[in-house]
Amino acid sequence: MSEKILLRHEQVPDLRRLEVYEADGGYSAVRKALTEMQPAQITEEVKDSGLRGRGGAGFPTGVKWGFLPKNAPKTYLLCNADESEPGTFKDRQIIEHNPHLLLEGIIISAYAIGCHTAYIFIRGEFARGAQRLEEALAEARARGYLGDNILGTGYALEVYVHRGAGAYICGEETGLIEALEGKRAYPRVKPPFPATYGIFGAPTIVNNVETLACVVPIINRGAKWFKAIGPEKSPGPKLFCVSGHVQRPGVYEAPMGTPLREVIYDFAGGISGGKRLKAVIPGGSSVPVLRADEIDVAMDFESVAKAGSLLGSCGVIVMDEDTCMVKALKVIAHFYAHESCGQCTPCREGTPWLYRLLTHLEDGGADPRDLELLLQVADNMMGNTVCVLADAAAMPVKSFIAKFRDEFEEHLRLGGCPQRLAARPHQAAAS
Ligand SMILES: Cc1cc2nc3c(=O)[nH]c(=O)nc-3n(C[C@H](O)[C@H](O)[C@H](O)COP(=O)(O)O)c2cc1C
Ligand code: SF4
Repeated sequence: MSEKILLRHEQVPDLRRLEVYEADGGYSAVRKALTEMQPAQITEEVKDSGLRGRGGAGFPTGVKWGFLPKNAPKTYLLCNADESEPGTFKDRQIIEHNPHLLLEGIIISAYAIGCHTAYIFIRGEFARGAQRLEEALAEARARGYLGDNILGTGYALEVYVHRGAGAYICGEETGLIEALEGKRAYPRVKPPFPATYGIFGAPTIVNNVETLACVVPIINRGAKWFKAIGPEKSPGPKLFCVSGHVQRPGVYEAPMGTPLREVIYDFAGGISGGKRLKAVIPGGSSVPVLRADEIDVAMDFESVAKAGSLLGSCGVIVMDEDTCMVKALKVIAHFYAHESCGQCTPCREGTPWLYRLLTHLEDGGADPRDLELLLQVADNMMGNTVCVLADAAAMPVKSFIAKFRDEFEEHLRLGGCPQRLAARPHQAAAS
């Protein structure tokens, strides 16, 4: 796809400035939505487009909007800009370089769900992003795209940027809501879901940055146009984040359903240093790993699930032939142990347990039964907690061991990491 929609700033310099954005056709979708369309029509258009949430779970956006109770006295729109999943850095591109696209998507979506207050919850580390959003908000307010009487239509909306304090769990939608309310980000037990009980108990729609940005071209060009891009069940333009052992790590825009092989070898230039590929995590650190012989998969929700993993946040983490899979998993386990909010016992105790077991495997001193114990701990974490962070920690453990079991067994047999032992042969001789 040569025309960029979400990464339009790569083709139009200074797009984050309102006058440039408007000159490029920006805010025409807001004008169209507010002056020519009823809110219910917009929801129908988004439903017909087949747009699915880009935050990880892929829930159909229009269907989610339809869950709001009718005639609720107060509703909120909450834009999830927490973007903390390892390997994921796509929303940041939109926020920093194309913020008016996000604001335009927020205004249209807020109008569709009958809401007059929207929040953008942005991760604390995105200082530049928060500043750029504030600048864009000020420009939009001054031009009449926000405020009491938007474009003279009588529709009122205010948007606030709320900075987080750097916790991964704030990205989970109910943790996000708790944090926005000024509390510790403990995810809530669901149901009730935010669409019925969200911010301060009012019905709330939580959507990802990229999801809301997609609403703009849907209104401008129609549901049919959007649905024609990529596979029927997972349509639309998509941002792919590629990191790890590739020549050109970065964010790439392409139709949903683009083959993973193309993302790695064409967009990102293949494996750095002329090495061979060993493994790929296709959707951020929370999803099962794929082996090098499993990358002929289309990057859409159905196809990646069929291949045994998940599209998730589309954070493609590439590992070359020299990667120690035990160490890679240990790094992932450390992240989840650090980020568990501690509310549920299986997650609070399970995540550091996984990390400790993997540390023993890596450093030496593991018990021969530890491999089975790792799997047992992971099994007991899954499906037994308030939110799915525990599952996100357990899934990589299960898939890494299933797909690279020989490496884990070799660590056990040798009493530590073969790469480290090769670098320090006296240690190997002593063990
Ligand atoms: C532990 C955890 C972290 C999450 N982090 C994010 C995040 O950083 N950004 C995001 O959009 N969704 C994140 N999600 C998913 C949100 O809970 C929610 O499903 C999403 O924001 C809904 O938006 P969408 O329908 O547009 O995808 C996370 C979920 C979990 C369980
Ligand atoms: S699963 Fe983990 S992160 Fe989620 S609520 Fe329970 S303890 Fe917190």
